[in-house]
Amino acid sequence: AIDITGLRSETGFITYDPGYANTGSCSSNITFVDGEKGILRYRGYPIEELAAQGTFIETAYLLIFGELPTRAQRQEFRQLLDEQELLHEDLRHHFEGFPSNGHPMAILSAVINALGCYHPDLLQINTEDEFLRAAAKIISKVRTIAAWSYRKAHGLPFMYPDPKLTYCRNFLHMMHSFPHRPFEPTDAQVRALSLFFLLHADHEQNCSCSTVRMVQSTEANMFASVSAGICALWGRLHGGANAGVISMLEQINEGDLSVKQCIERVKQKEFRLMGFGHRIYKSFDPRAKILREAAHNMLESTGYSDPLLDIALELADTALNDEYFTERKLYPNVDFYSGIILRALGIPVNMFPVMFAIGRMPGWIAHWNEANTDGVTKIHRPRQIYTGLAPRKYVPLDSRL
Ligand code: ACO
Repeated sequence: AIDITGLRSETGFITYDPGYANTGSCSSNITFVDGEKGILRYRGYPIEELAAQGTFIETAYLLIFGELPTRAQRQEFRQLLDEQELLHEDLRHHFEGFPSNGHPMAILSAVINALGCYHPDLLQINTEDEFLRAAAKIISKVRTIAAWSYRKAHGLPFMYPDPKLTYCRNFLHMMHSFPHRPFEPTDAQVRALSLFFLLHADHEQNCSCSTVRMVQSTEANMFASVSAGICALWGRLHGGANAGVISMLEQINEGDLSVKQCIERVKQKEFRLMGFGHRIYKSFDPRAKILREAAHNMLESTGYSDPLLDIALELADTALNDEYFTERKLYPNVDFYSGIILRALGIPVNMFPVMFAIGRMPGWIAHWNEANTDGVTKIHRPRQIYTGLAPRKYVPLDSRL
């Protein structure tokens, strides 16, 4: 129980809101979420329409600049991303310093932060042009860094980006091509990856976005702020959940656990059903709905079959018919089906949160910029309720027992 006197501050009463479930930390024009109705809109556009008709790069532009690009703007933005896709050769050597079993999220956050050392002119952003250059560098280079962390972990030669390829195709090329043996993904695979990134591109004040805004509020640079966002995303209750879903489905597939046992153990509170539940969505997560169908379509069109999809569907349907889950309004979230798509693209499980981070980058950048330019953002500095000891006298070392 909280002692009400602990809630008093010199300026009045403090709101005690662990996890900030009811605290609005900022105002924002970027993304609208209605968790009761399962609505998600980027800059006013319903996620369903963007998913059906848009691409990730168009969506990134929309989030960052507020409007969908015209044909000319899209071309210009693509060109800018193409120009930024290479890493400085010295930065390439950073990868050699990491152990081959180093987690790709650690590598990603470290190398994104290190980008600031190579672009000291962009540590302070005062003009739109500087903002555009920094944003393009991060969005373009994040996929090169991600792919190279994978190549390093597997002892494979680094594949340089190919400027002839579109954003998603280029990423798959850097992941899976070999010298003289290019990887040529199908259109369905490229579309599925673009959709995956698009659906992860922003989600208002989730933990990683709030982290980016918190770090920005000290006037820290964009590289450092989004690097902090990557660290916040890493945890298994946030961007790490997609990897948790696959290991849970694999356990069931290997016969170590049945769907029924899994549900029972969750109800006994022995573990959480990964990819289920959301702080905001209390009827359904519209992104999960789109990804469920996309996973089906992609497997069908590529002729790839994955027993984990059948298990995921059985698990979801069993949970959705169980009072424990319906009473607590627990539904599949974006992470529940996304792993099926990533597996079909040959992405290893420890790279799943990295894929989430690539997709989320435009959202983090849009929020960083909004906070940097709105003129009202103050340094984030929550209060606390002190529950420690009352004042006491210092005990000299010789007198301590
Ligand atoms: N499995 C089983 N029970 C759950 C789950 C779950 N995944 N999530 C919540 N619950 C239960 C809790 O045990 C609690 O039950 P109780 O009232 O009997 O104690 C109740 O539902 C409320 O749970 P909270 O932890 O208070 O919910 P909160 O809003 O804090 O947590 C979260 C949201 C972290 C997403 C949670 O649902 C969870 O841990 N899910 C699994 C991890 C996951 O999928 N994370 C990805 C989220 S989406 C994203 O980051 C992109």
